[in-house]
Amino acid sequence: MTERNRRPYNDVLETIGWTPLIRLNRVTAGIRTPVYGKAEFFNPGGSVKDRIGIAIIEDAERRGELKPGGVIVEGTSGNTGVALALAAALKGYRCIFTMPDKMSQEKVRLLKAFGAEVIITPTAVPPDHPDNYVMKAKAIVRDTPHAVLANQFYNQVNPEAHYNTTGPELWTQTEGKITHLVGGAGTGGTVSGAGRFLKEQNPNVRVIVGEPQGSVYAEYARTKTLAEGHPYKVEGIGGDKIPSALHYEYIDEFRTISDKDAFQMARRITREEGLFVGGSTGLIVAAALQVAREIDDPKACVVAILCDTGERYLSKLFNDEWMRENQMIEAERVTASGLLACKTDTAPELVTVAPSQTVRQALNLMETYDISQLPIVEGGQCVGSLNEGTLMAQAIAHPAVLDQPVREIMEAPYPVVDGELALERFSELLSRETPAVLVRHNGELAGIVTRYDVLHYMAGIR
Ligand SMILES: Cc1ncc(COP(=O)(O)O)c(C=O)c1O
Repeated sequence: MTERNRRPYNDVLETIGWTPLIRLNRVTAGIRTPVYGKAEFFNPGGSVKDRIGIAIIEDAERRGELKPGGVIVEGTSGNTGVALALAAALKGYRCIFTMPDKMSQEKVRLLKAFGAEVIITPTAVPPDHPDNYVMKAKAIVRDTPHAVLANQFYNQVNPEAHYNTTGPELWTQTEGKITHLVGGAGTGGTVSGAGRFLKEQNPNVRVIVGEPQGSVYAEYARTKTLAEGHPYKVEGIGGDKIPSALHYEYIDEFRTISDKDAFQMARRITREEGLFVGGSTGLIVAAALQVAREIDDPKACVVAILCDTGERYLSKLFNDEWMRENQMIEAERVTASGLLACKTDTAPELVTVAPSQTVRQALNLMETYDISQLPIVEGGQCVGSLNEGTLMAQAIAHPAVLDQPVREIMEAPYPVVDGELALERFSELLSRETPAVLVRHNGELAGIVTRYDVLHYMAGIR
């Protein structure tokens, strides 16, 4: 364990910056180029935005715009809000944040935890619509006395903060060996500020921006025209309007990555590198690995910005249900054997009765194991079935049937499926007439799957 934080800090703001540079080892398997992550989630507010929060507040104070009792207002995807709220908490300012409704609940609760007021706005409105979160923030400033807009998308203090901190840290931590900086661009402050500093040290440093599919920044770099963006799920980067904090002159290349690849990479970084990160980081690292694979040079040094903590996305990219609902992971391929393994009922794997046993014995078995379907098995083959509903009706109508062999009243045998058959395939066999299927393992009848079991599984009841 290396020594850090040797001396005490006067307040939490002094702990912002000098975040660790950590080698990525497993997601880079097969890539000879070294790839590092700049772990911005080590900042006290959990993201890269901590660097600009305090910088914007102190700048507004220096310019006499923000005075004691003042109000800080901003449109934010959450992280800048946390950064501002964290600094405002120490300085005694009130905070009001507007936030698009696509952002996670975790982020809303977090801002409120810091005492901020949060106003949720619709995501899918044009950038100049009054309900757009940035437009809404500007309106709130107009209507609130002593209010100051942090204005992160157009405030040049933003890239300046990264020119003064992120860039120099990367140069020092890589001992000037950095060859490629890969980041995301929300406001563009991080890549523009750090990129400018690094290019001043070594003009050959390449600055690459990972861009969500649906954002308009990359297209604008190519055509200088504002394309029609479309919604995407990754939070914090990309946009549908070009911010002035994004300085294209320091950016060499854009790499467009899908939400699915971004989220799957974020899950891999967390599970394989132990770095708990958010979706924008997944996107950035996916772009960084593409670059690293292409340059294939052990002497190069690729650095990816790890923008924020995964804790903000537990209800989303780290939630399998949400990922499946949004087609970000394949529906888990569940087989008949897989479903057998999920069954929680206490009954033995497979309860059967022989054709010669009586209906009464069969009913006792159903009662004992609380089951409604009973396969009739002879010589390892299912030769018939008993289903609670029809059986009850027959026994009540003709009580004498209770002492007859079940072969007298049995219904059609249940279909037998191989254990490897996928749920989608064998659930087609299930119906009111065929309420169960038997599962074969290595040629043996190994278990029974009923409609009830499938419903339970689909409903997520385990
Ligand atoms: C999660 C996340 N990643 C990346 C960024 C991009 O940072 P910047 O605004 O400096 O471009 C942001 C910005 O809000 C963010 O919230």
